[in-house]
Amino acid sequence: MEAPLTHASPPGRAAVLAGLGTYVPPRVVTNEDLSLTMDTSDEWIRTRTGITQRHWADPGTATGDLAVAAGERALKSAGSDAVDLVVLATTTPDHPCPATAPEVASRLGLQNVAAYDIAAVCSGFVYGLASAAGAIAAGIAERVLVIGAETYSTILNPDDRTTSVIFGDGAGAVVLRAGDATEPGALLGHDLGSDGSLKDLIIVPGGGSRQRSAAAAPGAPEPDPADAYFSMQGKPVFRHAVTRMAASSQAMLDRAGWPAESVDWFVGHQANVRILHAVADQLGMPRDRTVVNLDRVGNTSAASIPLALSDAVAAGRITPGDRVLMSAFGGGVTWGSTALVWPDIDAN
Ligand code: ACO
Repeated sequence: MEAPLTHASPPGRAAVLAGLGTYVPPRVVTNEDLSLTMDTSDEWIRTRTGITQRHWADPGTATGDLAVAAGERALKSAGSDAVDLVVLATTTPDHPCPATAPEVASRLGLQNVAAYDIAAVCSGFVYGLASAAGAIAAGIAERVLVIGAETYSTILNPDDRTTSVIFGDGAGAVVLRAGDATEPGALLGHDLGSDGSLKDLIIVPGGGSRQRSAAAAPGAPEPDPADAYFSMQGKPVFRHAVTRMAASSQAMLDRAGWPAESVDWFVGHQANVRILHAVADQLGMPRDRTVVNLDRVGNTSAASIPLALSDAVAAGRITPGDRVLMSAFGGGVTWGSTALVWPDIDAN
């Protein structure tokens, strides 16, 4: 039976957006660059995905490094480095163990704060916002740094053109503070869901206890080296992404009491411009209200929504008072949405 987790924030205390910061590594990899090393073309990548370039971290740079850079900027944007919880959404942690968030917190000078990672793949940032808002609503935290950071370039199979052209590296972070549900910037509720029966659609098969345990069995075959890499069944993922993001967005709109046509900006997970437009169509929202920055950064998974927000703010598109709807779909499979009226903050 389907029972997604949908709720509105309790009246009164709410998580309010107080700061936003992002970082992408400097190295730009264009579609033309990729076409020199694999059987692809700028034309195919642009027309099938909307992507023209992405940023990839240089060897030696890890997800935690990008997270620290974005986190610093978000704290600066919030005007205070006082937080009591760090939530880091990532699919590409620095190590399988421990979580990356505690080290990121320490490197940010946030001594002794609670810190943990969230693994919800491309939905990670939206899950992270819900987790942080829950901690604030419960009185566990007053101020939370939520970071989405990824270095997908470290898990892409260079022999797999279907995934290598899609993903980019980057990080985005926000500060949420305890405030009032009626303030601009208050998260107006959350819609989250998952369907683990579809886990094989987006998977890194190796490296976890499933493979290690199987490898220890008598007569077990050697693991396939390709199992260390990310793999995705693009077509069904496309279909589920549209269906789930549209349904989750609608559930969130219902919670917020917003008609679709009243939304100023739809900030969806930046997977594919065709997916974003299909979701807008299903919601009955004009396509030009869709924020798109994947053309320049690719699919940055858990970092994609804060990077898109920052891009739209910097371009003067999202402005204070605008109604902003966020929605994501990712591996697991997972999905989630939230919404807010954009507050008057300085984004970095
Ligand atoms: N360059 C050239 N040709 C390619 C490439 C490439 N990079 N990749 C695939 N092709 C070929 C295929 O081999 C196929 O050729 P064939 O017809 O001869 O077999 C043809 O192009 C069409 O391939 P499809 O996979 O059917 O292409 P599609 O239009 O479905 O686009 C894509 C593929 C871009 C991956 C699309 O399916 C998609 O965007 N899927 C969703 C991805 C997504 O939303 N991810 C979000 C979640 S990700 C996460 O959580 C980490």
